[in-house]
Amino acid sequence: MKKHITVIEGDGIGPEVTRQSVKVLNAIAERFGHEFDYTYCLMGAVAIDKTGNPLPDETIESCLNSDAVLFGAIGHPKYDNDPTAKVRPEQGLLKLRKSLQLYANLRPISTYASLQHLSPLKAKQLEGVDFIIFRELTGGIYFGKKEINAEGTQASDDCIYTREEIERIAHLAFHFAQKPERRKKLTLVDKANVLETSRLWRKVVQDIAKEYPDVTVEYMFVDNAAMQIILNPKQFDIVLTENMFGDIISDEASVLSGSLGLMPSASVGKGTVLFEPIHGSYPQAAGKDIANPLGSILSGAMLLEYLSLTQEAALVREAVNWTLENSFVTKDIDPVNFYFTSTIGELISDYVSGKIPASVKKENIELRKSTII
Ligand code: IPM
Ligand code: MN
Repeated sequence: MKKHITVIEGDGIGPEVTRQSVKVLNAIAERFGHEFDYTYCLMGAVAIDKTGNPLPDETIESCLNSDAVLFGAIGHPKYDNDPTAKVRPEQGLLKLRKSLQLYANLRPISTYASLQHLSPLKAKQLEGVDFIIFRELTGGIYFGKKEINAEGTQASDDCIYTREEIERIAHLAFHFAQKPERRKKLTLVDKANVLETSRLWRKVVQDIAKEYPDVTVEYMFVDNAAMQIILNPKQFDIVLTENMFGDIISDEASVLSGSLGLMPSASVGKGTVLFEPIHGSYPQAAGKDIANPLGSILSGAMLLEYLSLTQEAALVREAVNWTLENSFVTKDIDPVNFYFTSTIGELISDYVSGKIPASVKKENIELRKSTII
């Protein structure tokens, strides 16, 4: 299979984690006889520095002409602490989501037995946690009219949703809930006791639910959902929610798996699909080779799955599990005995290439471990 992928490394740790997933994709291509070619494009603070524009037209063009997009991270502290900045890195990502009409962001939440000790929750609450957050991505308060008065004393952000915007992601979420591997349950997370937009979400989902009689639907206010994700995360299967609630509860849910650095995501819509880890640019770690590349590598696995390369995706996941089970982990997971970002990328690509049989245990690779810091 021949596929064209646009790679947007972005800011902070984006380049170093994305390089690991490209390494792994190359190992997959070689082993299974595929051809992946890559076009590297700019977006974010790095694009502002080089071109003055957080999302140059060439980047949009390349994404539109690709089979998939692999994206790293976005953001830089010099903009975070300057609320008056007119151009911001994040505008690049928001515009790209809009340009590619990526209206749904899928964030799978699962746990790993070998990492359960890292979660502040008890192991018995974590076993079997497996849900997917369907976050609406191109509407709501993120994209409504933004205003600040001349005196700079009053500001507003409009939150707008149309029936059509809710319907398209709701259908996607219901279809997913029906898949054989899912538990046929959908929870709509909203704030329908206060917000008009949430009441529209509820109405639309109630209407659509009739078309999916085999899916059980629950409705949950977002404040309660934030609590339930910690108290009883096993109750969730498919979680459907609007843009900002989805942003917030997905960071919260990442705590269940042990590290934000592990979490992948896929953004899907009408055109090219984009894959990205859910973590940010983590500027404190940039260039140190210590960031966790698994969020990006697992986003690569989602990319393979999307290209219907099921066996290939499964091998990447097997390799990731193998590293975790043998404690080949980065500093976020084990601050004392940790491996470098690039080493984890190598181990996973070597495993994928068949250079490391599953029987090889930690002791044999001890040499590659970091000895500094
Ligand atoms: C995410 C990020 C983005 C968002 C930022 C960087 C604009 O937090 O993908 O979750 O809020 O959507
Ligand atoms: Mn976020």
